[in-house]
Amino acid sequence: MNLIRTVQHLKLLIPALLIGAGLTQSVAAASATRWYSLQQLEQGRTLFLQHCAVCHGPRAEGTSNWQQPDANGHYPPPPLNGSAHAWHHDLPLLQRTIREGGQKLGGQMPPFAQLLDAPQIDSVIAYFQSQWPDEVYQKWSGKFSAGDTLPSIDDLARLLNKKPDLAYLKQRLQGVEIGTPILSPVKQLYQIQFNDKYLYLTEDGQYAIIGEMIDLKNGANLSKQK
Ligand code: HEC
Repeated sequence: MNLIRTVQHLKLLIPALLIGAGLTQSVAAASATRWYSLQQLEQGRTLFLQHCAVCHGPRAEGTSNWQQPDANGHYPPPPLNGSAHAWHHDLPLLQRTIREGGQKLGGQMPPFAQLLDAPQIDSVIAYFQSQWPDEVYQKWSGKFSAGDTLPSIDDLARLLNKKPDLAYLKQRLQGVEIGTPILSPVKQLYQIQFNDKYLYLTEDGQYAIIGEMIDLKNGANLSKQK
């Protein structure tokens, strides 16, 4: 799964950090309401063209088909110019995405921790944020409030790769072919298909419910949506 989408899903679990903490207060006249200076912006442009433009485009416009996964389920580099999702992430998450890349979470972006130090990473963020229209920047800067720290990437990866223990189920359904469990729309319940039935298994693999999952609010049959 793609880092960004994943993180967006997990975002529900992630209380955001206060943005701007620890960043320089110097602000250029040209970008009076933004956190970065003109100097950071210029350094960031050079670094972005050198390291990021090859995938994200020189003006951070990304690829036009960025919402279409390829044959291997990988998403192309998204725009970072305010037209996609980057602005839903607070500064610590953007910094970490650039430091660690997306590979640990099944994505394609390489890590930059060996190539760019923290101030340089801040400057490339300044550069692609300079492509954001003011209203997007304003929404971004009002979006996050003080809270806990980000869970580590390893914790996120573990959460994603977690699958219920199928031992009890296999014991009960001896010889019956069962599909791969996928996380159902209800947290902590996994959906498994066998024959034409749907089964829901708790995370620990001890309890199973057989039937269809209906969203009572709007009547959608969630079992058949996959
Ligand atoms: C080899 C291609 C490649 C390079 C080089 C690259 N990226 Fe990415 N980037 C991606 C892909 C693909 C994604 C989507 C997530 C994934 O697959 O890991 C992504 C995702 C991101 C995201 C998250 C976007 C979102 O919508 O949340 C940010 C931020 C980002 N890249 C910044 C950068 C910066 C800054 C650089 C340069 C220092 C860079 N990338 C270099 C391919 C690349």
